[in-house]
Amino acid sequence: MIKESYFTEESSAEAVNARMGDDINPRLAQVMGSLVRHLHAFAKDIDLTQEEWDLAIDFLTQTGQMCSPERQEFILLSDALGFSMLVDAINNRRPSGATENTVFGPFHVADAPIREMGDNICLDGKGETCLFEGRVLDVDGAPIEGAMVDVWSDNADGYYDVQQPAIQPKFNNRGRFITGADGVYRFVGIKPVAYPIPDDGPVGKMLAALGRHPNRPAHLHFLVTAPGFQKIVTHIFDGEDKWLSSDAVFGVKESLIAPFEPASGDTQWRAPFDFVMVKA
Ligand code: BEZ
Ligand code: FE
Repeated sequence: MIKESYFTEESSAEAVNARMGDDINPRLAQVMGSLVRHLHAFAKDIDLTQEEWDLAIDFLTQTGQMCSPERQEFILLSDALGFSMLVDAINNRRPSGATENTVFGPFHVADAPIREMGDNICLDGKGETCLFEGRVLDVDGAPIEGAMVDVWSDNADGYYDVQQPAIQPKFNNRGRFITGADGVYRFVGIKPVAYPIPDDGPVGKMLAALGRHPNRPAHLHFLVTAPGFQKIVTHIFDGEDKWLSSDAVFGVKESLIAPFEPASGDTQWRAPFDFVMVKA
């Protein structure tokens, strides 16, 4: 007996989705139902060939095989496809004036040293010195006491310490700072430099095949947390960087471009930037 739910090209997605049980998690049913509909529509839209699908399976297999405790090629794929930024945008809609989120990236280290305000986080002595300072505020402009400002950046050669454990001092260009009653944070680091995302794997090959470069414009990463407030995962960018309008992972937002001003004090540069947090 022919049943409506037998598989045909025309009704392919419906045939698959009809197999879901009645008693399953409703969110799972929604997510998988939509995924199957879009995936089948995609194959039909482009008349996917067998060779192309075999290539895609091979690409995904290589992506999985590239993953290790030190390397997450699937997150890199999500980043390079702009998907990480989309998921972040959907989940972090904030009122105007609040600091915007951007991509987290793979180079955060959870236990960076807690340092004193004004400390220098650059331990290898390379790069142009820069004073980073500002305040952590709520949306009404009141300072937030006890906020943790966790910062990390690449060194002047364009590598994070964790990419060069045998070359760079541990925790080079990293630190955590806790604000006092004035909400102020202040530390010395280096004016960041642009660098390529890891491009020696399948994601790098994909970028090359698409005529895309792997570079990220110069930036410093921040994770700002405070009790009672939504965490901020963000960067500040150097507005002069040549890759600003073509970031390989689409992380740039206009509000995150900091002024890097030539400084006359102990550092060559100064980059003022305030973080504005939204209540949880
Ligand atoms: C980063 O900025 O550290 C980064 C972000 C996404 C992919 C690779 C690196
Ligand atoms: Fe980075």
